[in-house]
Amino acid sequence: MDRRKFLKTGVAGATGLMMAPGIKAATPSFKGRTVVISSGNGLRATAQAMELIRNGSDALDAVIAGVNIVEADPDDMSVGYGGLPNEEGVVELDSCCMHGPTHNAGAVAALQGIKYPSRVARLVMERTDHVLLVGQGALRFAKAHGFKEENLLTDKARKAWLRWKEARPDDDWFPPEDVDKDKKGKAALDIPFTYGTITCLGLDLNGNISGVTTTSGLSYKIPGRVGDSPIIGAGLYVDNEVGACGSTGRGEENLKNLTSHLIVEFMRQGMTPQNACMAGLKRVLEKARLMPRLMKKNGHPAFNIQYYAINKAGEFGACSMYGPVRFAVHDGQENHHQQAEYLFEWDKKTR
Ligand code: GLY
Repeated sequence: MDRRKFLKTGVAGATGLMMAPGIKAATPSFKGRTVVISSGNGLRATAQAMELIRNGSDALDAVIAGVNIVEADPDDMSVGYGGLPNEEGVVELDSCCMHGPTHNAGAVAALQGIKYPSRVARLVMERTDHVLLVGQGALRFAKAHGFKEENLLTDKARKAWLRWKEARPDDDWFPPEDVDKDKKGKAALDIPFTYGTITCLGLDLNGNISGVTTTSGLSYKIPGRVGDSPIIGAGLYVDNEVGACGSTGRGEENLKNLTSHLIVEFMRQGMTPQNACMAGLKRVLEKARLMPRLMKKNGHPAFNIQYYAINKAGEFGACSMYGPVRFAVHDGQENHHQQAEYLFEWDKKTR
């Protein structure tokens, strides 16, 4: 069989196994319960994903449909349409997905003008021999698959960006008209800021696990800045034999530790999802201490980050550097918010 045919057919085809795309063969020994977990902004995503899972959907179909609700929501300023833009006022999106049964993954980064980056990430996985497409290449790929290019900058996000821009010192932009300057001449402003992101992980009726992470990334970022969300092992990692982990918050610290992968490895060694998330978080903290600019004078980290994990048995856990903070979970019985474990109490200087 030539390479092209093998790639199109996949391992299942090559070995004679019949698997319909989307629905994977049942794991006969599966005794766990279904579960869907997401970041705090994902309560509608977990509800949608669980409904699909209960109707027999593959976990990947379910979690992507779940996060699509938030990607399309103009009021979530950390994801998709309505996300806060880069420093030039352009919304740039990152996303990845990972499919447990095939251990395959797809991702897009710095994608402009496409409302559903998670769907494009999935197409990268399913329709190319690659894992990650970026920038103009990702956009051209999306358009080739029929995605419409549109302006993702809502008026609300544009005004937030303009406020941020006008409040910056030492340039020719006057401060926003409606704010007084403080003694140092800096405008006293409340400017929305986010590392944002939604991640969603699901375990389906066949005992298969998949996940997706999608974001507009760091607000007012340098154009081309890519965070952790589209990087497999950082913003997301899935091992169908073990579990899955996704992350939100400051991507740079996650990138340097590939913590989602680390947390799945901790679960492989026998930790519960909760303990694995906390062990991963503590690793991030330990490494951040090596760089003084990442720490505040009181010795606490100057950033926030969260981890969410599920395992093959349907157990789940979540933790955050700062809290209290909620995550969303459908535990098979009920869709609800739950408090994540955290290391430090919020303070105003934490981003
Ligand atoms: N975790 C999202 C980002 O840092 O871009």
